[in-house]
Amino acid sequence: MNNKIIIINGPNLNLLGEREQSQYGSITFKNLEENCIKKSKELDLKLKFAQSNVEGELVNIIQDARKDFDGIIINAAAFTHTSVAIRDALNIFKKPIIELHISNIYRREEFRQKSLISDIATGGIFGLGANGYILAIISMHKLLKNEN
Ligand code: DQA
Repeated sequence: MNNKIIIINGPNLNLLGEREQSQYGSITFKNLEENCIKKSKELDLKLKFAQSNVEGELVNIIQDARKDFDGIIINAAAFTHTSVAIRDALNIFKKPIIELHISNIYRREEFRQKSLISDIATGGIFGLGANGYILAIISMHKLLKNEN
């Protein structure tokens, strides 16, 4: 079927709506998940929405995704800039990967301007707010249908 996708969220994204609204807007994590589920249903995609604050748990989720999912959308949050382990796990996943950030990491502090994921991702979306999640789902749908 080629229609199973997972959105993986890294540390502190569970506190969306509460944390740094000037960067991430006011949408809550729960509302974000609901919006993603709605868009996925419209496109006939089966979505799992995952989040962890723990690096090793994220590595396990990415490893397990090999068997169960056709594409990964990942906002690795702070681990984007630091985690070789998450990069290595993603590199083992031989299907489409979209890197996602709510904020424009290239307009922020210098330490955020380096991503260890970008060069192994299929593509990326950043700086478009929570709507980036919806755009990522649409793009993944096209990638899986070979319509890109
Ligand atoms: C983020 C950007 C990261 O630098 C930051 O650590 C986050 C969120 C984003 O979505 O804009 O937690 O990935």
